Amino acid sequence: MITKIDHIAIAVQNLESALETFRNVIGCAGEAIRIEEVASEKVRVAFITVGETKIELLEPLSDESPIAKFIAKNGDGMHHIALQTDDINKETERLESLNIKPLSLPKEGAGGKKIMFLHPKETNKVLIEFAQKKH
Ligand code: CO
Repeated sequence: MITKIDHIAIAVQNLESALETFRNVIGCAGEAIRIEEVASEKVRVAFITVGETKIELLEPLSDESPIAKFIAKNGDGMHHIALQTDDINKETERLESLNIKPLSLPKEGAGGKKIMFLHPKETNKVLIEFAQKKH
């Protein structure tokens, strides 16, 4: 079951400068922000909590990062929407039964969550992430 929008992600070339911009836009305090590195995706990530959901800023750590490739093509901008699910395996099966193919099997993402993506061509050119909380 999908329970909420977990986060909306924005690809950025410079995390510090984007963080300052979005802190000012949202008007949030430092405790609303969490920064971490996700080695598997070669990115540095800042999560800004906004009520029940979050804004995720994604900065590439190498030219090999999928985010670096995205920025090279599009510049900074909206990258994906993440839906929170209580059971990512069940969700994957449900999607496959509708002939919607995930890009990969669920893998570990930021915050130790299990995540998987759908190809944007399946979803009106919007990259969709499914995320299941660590139990
Ligand atoms: Co995400």
